[in-house]
Amino acid sequence: MEEDQWMTDGKAAFQTVFDGAPDCISIAPGRVNLIGGHTDYNDGYVLPVAIDRHTVVAGRRRPDQTIVVHSQTRAETMRFDLPTIDLKHDTSWSEYIAGVIDALNAEKSLGGMEFVITGDVPLGAGLSSSASLELAVGAFVRDLFDLTIDDQTLANRCWKAETEFVGVECGIMDQYAATFGETNHALFLDCQDETHDVVELAEDTLIVVVDTNVKHELAASAYNIRVSQCQEGVDQFDQVLSHRVSSLRDVSIKEFERHTESISQPVRDRCEHVIRENDRVRVAATALENGDVEQCGNLMFASHESLSELYEVSCPELDLVVRCANETEGVIGARMTGGGFGGSVVALVHPNVVDSFTDTLHEVYPAETGIELSVYTCRASDGVTVSMLEHTS
Ligand code: GLA
Repeated sequence: MEEDQWMTDGKAAFQTVFDGAPDCISIAPGRVNLIGGHTDYNDGYVLPVAIDRHTVVAGRRRPDQTIVVHSQTRAETMRFDLPTIDLKHDTSWSEYIAGVIDALNAEKSLGGMEFVITGDVPLGAGLSSSASLELAVGAFVRDLFDLTIDDQTLANRCWKAETEFVGVECGIMDQYAATFGETNHALFLDCQDETHDVVELAEDTLIVVVDTNVKHELAASAYNIRVSQCQEGVDQFDQVLSHRVSSLRDVSIKEFERHTESISQPVRDRCEHVIRENDRVRVAATALENGDVEQCGNLMFASHESLSELYEVSCPELDLVVRCANETEGVIGARMTGGGFGGSVVALVHPNVVDSFTDTLHEVYPAETGIELSVYTCRASDGVTVSMLEHTS
């Protein structure tokens, strides 16, 4: 949906819950990641794209210290007091909001506020609905209360809310993509120094998202286990290599191959995935820059195989979709996106085969899994935007 339409919808959503009009509206995108699975928390490289699925926050200040939030998406309202935000440290939607507000309140004393949340980022589909929510709330609060923090700091505060308050030990990719995304471009992001280059996407290539509509229970705990296995890999390589190893980014493919026997399993497989994946991201970004989308696509398939076999974060449903993609002429590349264990596959597809690819998926997937899936095309979009509204009366 276009920004103008979201502005209209945000105002309307506000008016159904609160009297009067909102003073501020923010719009933040979801994201897919073309390549670079589970590399971000290893100081590695990723290639995310902010997509035209958004979270919208519309609201205004209140004269007291109360915060009232209504989520249209979840049909729930929450209310809490600013000075005594009581964080439960779980992954409920209200926790993301409370975490961001608490982090920003530490920057500058805020006041009460009331806002609605609406949008169309599918929840729990691996498209980063949580970072989109965090950035929409964060940017809204920043502009409403005139905080003087730049975009980089805002992305970091939102990331901190997720890691410290919610307790998922994720990397910076999702918050970064929701902040710095650009229309028609992917971001080649170096998660070590948090800098990025934009990479133009070919006009005749479409991004297709396939939501498997499955979410396996172990996702959050398995994610944190992968984070600690990578840390174990860092410790083991630090012992065997003659130079300092502070992240897997410090281990080259040659070093990995030379010392592979010294590393215990399954840590070795996890490290192999991360170390080779970093290389794939670099090559894929250069391939896209050179207009070689086919090479990028092949690397996406290789990435998925590695995430499935070595990193073990895929599931039969994701593997099935990627296999279908691989067998369909005109699908350039496909891989799981997000943390894994369900969620979505991102595919790069030639426009003339989108319909036949979609038809094949709707036929094969329910027949094998008993579940319906959702398929939609996405456009690369800008990062979070905020508008302060002028009232005429
Ligand atoms: C989730 C996390 C990201 C990243 C991906 C895997 O989406 O939020 O930080 O680690 O998984 O690439």
